[in-house]
Amino acid sequence: MEKINVLYDNDTVVNRIKELAKQINNDYQGKEIRVIGILRGGVYFMTELTKYIEVPVTIDFMAASSYGNGTVSSGKVNITKELDESIEGCDVLVVEDIIDTGRTLDALFDILKNRNPKSLKLCTLLDKPARRVEGVSVKSDYNGFSIPDLFVVGCGLDYAQKYRNLPYIGEVVLD
Ligand code: IMP
Ligand code: MG
Repeated sequence: MEKINVLYDNDTVVNRIKELAKQINNDYQGKEIRVIGILRGGVYFMTELTKYIEVPVTIDFMAASSYGNGTVSSGKVNITKELDESIEGCDVLVVEDIIDTGRTLDALFDILKNRNPKSLKLCTLLDKPARRVEGVSVKSDYNGFSIPDLFVVGCGLDYAQKYRNLPYIGEVVLD
């Protein structure tokens, strides 16, 4: 059975999310944001973040899965849940739980760019910069915490689909 060691408690996570929202409020003054939450991991972060955004917000959701196995960099994604609305001409902010190798978001951004949004930015709760693979150009414009190469859960992140609902971010320790 695995153990979960707390890395960032709930207060720390919420305070950091409020800081990100403040930055976003500044950068998007006078604009309207189309927030795209990436299912399923990005949902907890997205709902918390948007509570503190003070410019007009509309939300939509998308789900994607990478092709092939984890060792092969195919650079392609399969959209398993499509957006409900067009993003053409919109200021789009994609909200995701974590950027790891970057493959999934990189491929997803190629698809979204082709749909002619007015702007396209990325907001992530976590970043594992040491894990990024070559050829990935997508960067997080707003990132909560940069972490080393640990496996983490909570605040939307899962281990075998469990622990997404933990109100803190914890490291999975196997024993
Ligand atoms: P990548 O950036 O394409 O390698 O994949 C990112 C996806 O891998 C995220 O959306 C998560 O679903 C998953 N992932 C990466 N690292 C972790 C982690 O530490 N805990 C839980 N899921 C993770
Ligand atoms: Mg995910």
